[in-house]
Amino acid sequence: MSSSMEVTLQNPPVDEILEQNGVAAQDPAPSPMLSEEKVIVSVEVCLKPSSTAQIADVRSAVERMLENRCLSYIDGPIPLPLDDTFLSENVQRICICDTDESTSSHNILLFWQVKPDVHVFQLSEEGPCEEISTDGQPSSFNEWILPAKEFDGLWESLIYESGLKQRLLRYAASALLFTEKGVDPFLVSWNRIVLLHGPPGTGKTSLCKALAQKLSIRFNQRYPQCQLIEVNAHSLFSKWFSESGKLVAKLFQKIQEMVEEENNLVFVLIDEVESLAAARKAALSGSEPSDSIRVVNALLTQMDKLKSSPNVIILTTSNITTAIDIAFVDRADIKAYVGPPTLQARYEILKSCLEELMRTGILTSLQDCMNIKLPNYANAKEKLNTPENHEKASELCKQLLETAEACEGMSGRSLRKLPFLAHAALANPSDCNPLKFLCTMIETAKRDRSELPD
Ligand SMILES: Nc1ncnc2c1ncn2[C@@H]1O[C@H](COP(=O)(O)OP(=O)(O)OP(=O)(O)O)[C@@H](O)[C@H]1O
Ligand SMILES: [Mg+2]
Repeated sequence: MSSSMEVTLQNPPVDEILEQNGVAAQDPAPSPMLSEEKVIVSVEVCLKPSSTAQIADVRSAVERMLENRCLSYIDGPIPLPLDDTFLSENVQRICICDTDESTSSHNILLFWQVKPDVHVFQLSEEGPCEEISTDGQPSSFNEWILPAKEFDGLWESLIYESGLKQRLLRYAASALLFTEKGVDPFLVSWNRIVLLHGPPGTGKTSLCKALAQKLSIRFNQRYPQCQLIEVNAHSLFSKWFSESGKLVAKLFQKIQEMVEEENNLVFVLIDEVESLAAARKAALSGSEPSDSIRVVNALLTQMDKLKSSPNVIILTTSNITTAIDIAFVDRADIKAYVGPPTLQARYEILKSCLEELMRTGILTSLQDCMNIKLPNYANAKEKLNTPENHEKASELCKQLLETAEACEGMSGRSLRKLPFLAHAALANPSDCNPLKFLCTMIETAKRDRSELPD
């Protein structure tokens, strides 16, 4: 993640700020005179676990702090002002988020172009609360209070091209806004069902959880409480058909209780939703007990009913890319295909892996450059197009790009496992620099690509 830069002057000339940010003055950043509309940028403020401060007080303090500082708005942390004891006592970190939509790689948002939208939250440390059944059956759902510590950083770790994450966020935000404003569904219809489909290991389940976490932060003024219920469709319908009726009833009773509280925002995640369709088909063909069809249908009816509650978002995933035969998924407004990572995404995923291994000291630094900062994909391409560039960092970024190219066809999950497998394949793991390590990664990818467990 790139960190935000801060410029020190109160009202520096435009050119000077642009230069300090490495942007040529004639770059297409709109001038303050020309741009009338300000860009809304989310600023997320995570409170310390010990903080008991009022959210509204922290928000005002952060807004004041931002007004008094000349920041360039780039995704990443903002340093906390040392002289502000209230903020330093209560705030763990302040991050600028998701500016990539409004900026191209060269176009940095400066403070006068931005209207910060401050979201203050505290992470829940409770962990998943699993429904324990007394009879040794697998549980039918997990429950988290959001935003959860467990999902912290998940959104940022998922890398997709073409604004997929932003699109999901905007869709969900619009759906919640329409509900909030009481738009008549007979006149304008919309729903709050999300379907992410695509091949295994492309981050669908993670993206659903990360989206729920993100929305719980973005909408915490309207919905101070948020929960995520992860329905284990497999355990509902695998071999426990005789018990399924009871499980479904229990599950929806629980969800209904949550939804009745209008300050609650409830996310229901149904992973691998095609297993519901398979269960129904098996029931219809007579290969399952005859009452099972009623259970599947009961679940679908319950889901349908749930859809009308304004404070529920149903998140579903599927590995099947063709049409799924389930009524409620059919009507999903937000359908997104999540595919294997592109070259750019593979570069960024591997870059984050490499940085983590350097941060933890598992990889030794290259000689002559202790603090290598790897460029992002766009800058890497540019850097490599500059002839006569023999810096160590360029060498490393060229090698990283080659590794990303060699990993074509691998899923995000396999890519995130690759550094570990490569490390295990090293002859001398105690002395390994990033360049050598990348070579081993290419070899490991080539050798194990077909065998990598997904
Ligand atoms: N585009 C991506 N960017 C970064 N990490 C990714 C990406 N895709 C997958 N991953 C990694 O793979 C892991 C597994 O992803 P996840 O289980 O969410 O995939 P899935 O699509 O739900 O898989 P399945 O279809 O098998 O259920 C994630 O935790 C993440 O670390
Ligand atoms: Mg999954």
